[in-house]
Amino acid sequence: MKVYIKTYGCQMNERDSEAAAGMLSSLGYGITDNEEDADILIFNTCSVRDQAERKAIGKIGILTRLKKRKPGIYIGIMGCMAQNRGEELLQELPHVDFVIGTGKLHKLPEILAETIKKRNRQLHLEEDHGVLTGMGTHFLGTNQISAYIAITRGCNRFCSYCIVPYVRGREISREIGDIRHEAEILVGQGIKEIMLLGQNVAAFGLGGDINPPPPEVSPFADLLAELNTIPGLKRLRFTSPYPSYFNDKLIRTMAALPTVCHSLHLPLQSGSDHILKAMNRHYTGKQYLEIAGKLRSAMPDITFSTDVIVGFPGETEEDFNATRAVMNEVGYDNAYIFKYSPRQGTAAAKMEDQVPQEVKEQRNQILLDDLARRVAEHNSRLKGKIVEVMVEGPSKRNSERWCGRTSTNKVAIFDPSDGMKSGDMVMVKVNRTTAMSLFGEVCAIPEEKP
Ligand code: 5AD
Ligand code: SF4
Repeated sequence: MKVYIKTYGCQMNERDSEAAAGMLSSLGYGITDNEEDADILIFNTCSVRDQAERKAIGKIGILTRLKKRKPGIYIGIMGCMAQNRGEELLQELPHVDFVIGTGKLHKLPEILAETIKKRNRQLHLEEDHGVLTGMGTHFLGTNQISAYIAITRGCNRFCSYCIVPYVRGREISREIGDIRHEAEILVGQGIKEIMLLGQNVAAFGLGGDINPPPPEVSPFADLLAELNTIPGLKRLRFTSPYPSYFNDKLIRTMAALPTVCHSLHLPLQSGSDHILKAMNRHYTGKQYLEIAGKLRSAMPDITFSTDVIVGFPGETEEDFNATRAVMNEVGYDNAYIFKYSPRQGTAAAKMEDQVPQEVKEQRNQILLDDLARRVAEHNSRLKGKIVEVMVEGPSKRNSERWCGRTSTNKVAIFDPSDGMKSGDMVMVKVNRTTAMSLFGEVCAIPEEKP
């Protein structure tokens, strides 16, 4: 039987889909990216914004036709929307066969087998810590050099706009030894770069305490140091960390470890102190800038990316300008800007003074314009410079040229040299830049780092 898995939302969802594909393929299911080919269609959904939910429901809704045409297929929903609206989905979408919440993903093979055997509809929304250890399988593509590892699940922070703590449950961390083992297997299969994932990765190993740790305590830094010793692993990245967890130990460790990339996703959400407070974000704009400043002193070439929400309830022009000012001061090289979307059950959804949609649109556009201008300018400063790039493979737009990434997460495009392969480290002299990419030529191959 062939399985098609469609993912909505974040990297954690991408990872869960990959783990699901890994589990099912090891049991003999085929994995296909063509839904027409599939006997089983699974939708891994997101609830973070209304739009993500509507997209998935729309897509699953129109599958009634496919199911009429091919009554033998099975349709399942997993992920955050499954957790959030499971029963309602089963009621409203009679052609859906199974719904699996975020705590039960590791049980997907069993639930699927049960659905097929009994031909009845299944709903599984219970919390189950087995999901922490039961989701270590991978499904790698050919020449894949980069892989995700989930190190925590859930979130304890309850930012007032966010549904994640309700749909992914309390934060739990894996054991360092298990993570190392998973990383070693991946490196053995040709992976050179690992992206560690968690709703708040820097809270790793802190037992769910929402108070950031004292200055010299950072189990997350210990994890980075441990993974850094894996022979053959060239790069470590992670996303997303809550800003307040960057103590001196973590910053020092990041700067000292050769595998840790100098690009950091550091969610800001807002630059206005009163909005940050209403968001239940436990830092001020000034504190955020201090953390970014310390990181930059320790790693002068570091680039930052961020998440920002515009139009949070009560956001005035002045609040918005405070966000804009912090963004300009940090000088992000990438930013995901979201229009606030009320999520039922969260504290912010009940707040008065919701911001009109057109104001959200305007603010969103202003930040996008700032970003495009800034990134083009930052990239142009790299013209004439030589940058180290990890080779990914033929570029999507023009397969005669190859692409790769710098440690600072810039995409570089260049002509391949003889014998070049994915995962190689090359030096690229930058000749031309745009807001999206650096264009250049390979000039020398650096010595392998020990
Ligand atoms: N509305 C808009 N954006 C949201 N995010 C989380 N919840 C909401 C919401 N209700 C954004 C935050 C978070 C990112 C993953 O999604 O910026 O960092
Ligand atoms: Fe949501 Fe805040 Fe947790 Fe991130 S830290 S998942 S924004 S509650």
